[in-house]
Amino acid sequence: MLIKSFVSSFALLRLGAAKVQFLGIGIAGGDFGCEIDGSCPTGSTQLPLRSFNLGGGDGEGQMKHFSQDDGMNLFRLPISWQSLVNSQLGARLDASNMAKYDKLVQACLATGAHCMIDIHNFARWNGGIIGQGGPTDEQFVSLWSQLATKYAGSANIVFELMNEPHDLDVPTWAATCQKVITAIRSAGALKQMILLPGTNFDSAAHLVPSGSAQALMALTNPDGTTDNLLLDVHKYLDEDNSGTHAACVTNNTDAFGEVAAFLRQAGRQAIVSETGAAPAGSACMQRFCEQNAFINANSDVFVGLVAWAAGSFDTSYILGLTPSQKNGKYVDNALATKCVAGTWLESSEVVPPAANSSSTSSVVSSATTTQSTSVVVGDGVSTATAVDASTPTPAPTLTTTTLAVSSGLPLPATVSETVELDAPSTVTGTIQTTATRNPAASASATQIRVTSGGLSWMAPTRMDVVCFWAVAGFAGRGLF
Ligand SMILES: *[C@@H]1O[C@H](CO)[C@@H](O)[C@H](O)[C@H]1NC(C)=O
Ligand SMILES: *[C@@H]1O[C@H](CO)[C@@H](O)[C@H](O)[C@H]1NC(C)=O
Repeated sequence: MLIKSFVSSFALLRLGAAKVQFLGIGIAGGDFGCEIDGSCPTGSTQLPLRSFNLGGGDGEGQMKHFSQDDGMNLFRLPISWQSLVNSQLGARLDASNMAKYDKLVQACLATGAHCMIDIHNFARWNGGIIGQGGPTDEQFVSLWSQLATKYAGSANIVFELMNEPHDLDVPTWAATCQKVITAIRSAGALKQMILLPGTNFDSAAHLVPSGSAQALMALTNPDGTTDNLLLDVHKYLDEDNSGTHAACVTNNTDAFGEVAAFLRQAGRQAIVSETGAAPAGSACMQRFCEQNAFINANSDVFVGLVAWAAGSFDTSYILGLTPSQKNGKYVDNALATKCVAGTWLESSEVVPPAANSSSTSSVVSSATTTQSTSVVVGDGVSTATAVDASTPTPAPTLTTTTLAVSSGLPLPATVSETVELDAPSTVTGTIQTTATRNPAASASATQIRVTSGGLSWMAPTRMDVVCFWAVAGFAGRGLF
């Protein structure tokens, strides 16, 4: 029996380099021809599949290389809305075009990675904004409902509702997204991650100031939870965040820091699904590495990072991460090696707790962990449950055996109970849970969920490496 014990403070844990759970690269081509007004001529699409002779790059070979040689486990597969329905707005998925895109999706899934479906239309169709004068919500919902039905059984599919909305009314856009979430879940895709993008091209610098983050994080699954609903985040390092200039002028620490603080406060998470820099650009090697190290260090709220791009881009593309062939093998360029793969591979598995918390965690056997977390809880219902998102099914058994709270809070001793705190003021206490999982469960799949006052936090625990996300700093939000 493995007996190990750790007592760590936030400051201590921060020293351990952290990394995001999912890392990857955009495998572009299905988006080729798309303009920011949402026009996407289907003749311009260049799906990155050599085996289909579609004119695009070798996305299949690239994904194999990235996953086998760099350990990457998330690929983003952009596609235009027009392509999927063969330019018939509101129509059924086009059998022929969908079969081609699915071939790319299957090539991705075959690597064992998570695969992100990205509708690359800027919240538009040929100039009109979805639900705001252009396509109706129902037409957009129809697209997603069909995609969700098709991929309902594929746990590793990630639904990115839309690439880079811009110049639209945020509350109306959020209402559109709510309908899509409901449709995806109703189609039977119950657990897949759904990424919710904000306005201003989903820019990290605008998500909070524009109100997008707040509006999108208020959306829920049909059962009222926010499980697997993540904020989608993009950002480039050039002067106007367009990803079209070679010079990197920022490492985006401010922008990503603001989003991280928001997410931590809200108890939510995000995936950075698009960011990139020019391999030949001035200061890019330094600033892109700094940015990605920062994102990895904030992996309590950023669960994934996808760099732009490979696929059908050739190696001369300004933001090209397309590997080149040497002696029959793919070789990454220096930026991909150092700043994308490097910042990740050099990090350990440890995920630091959120700021302003202290924690104790001990492994008493290879299959049991005990954790205690300082949390700020207030009036309202507080519960803790342990869940296991393991695949393959059937999931191993996981039970929370203890839920004890110090500081005299009247929280229950078992997870099957909840308590209503009647003190109107904020109080601080410690929730301690013990979760036992089947040793066959994958190490990263076990999570402790704490819910208080209508907000919930998932605290992923990796049983092997003893780490977890603490929950703290919610005082003063007025939500409890
Ligand atoms: C980002 O750049 C700023 C300004 O140059 C610097 O202070 C900061 O340390 C950098 N961030 C990282 C994570 O290196
Ligand atoms: C941590 O949170 C407590 C309670 O909200 C607050 O009083 C304290 O100032 C915070 N400490 C830091 C270092 O932010």
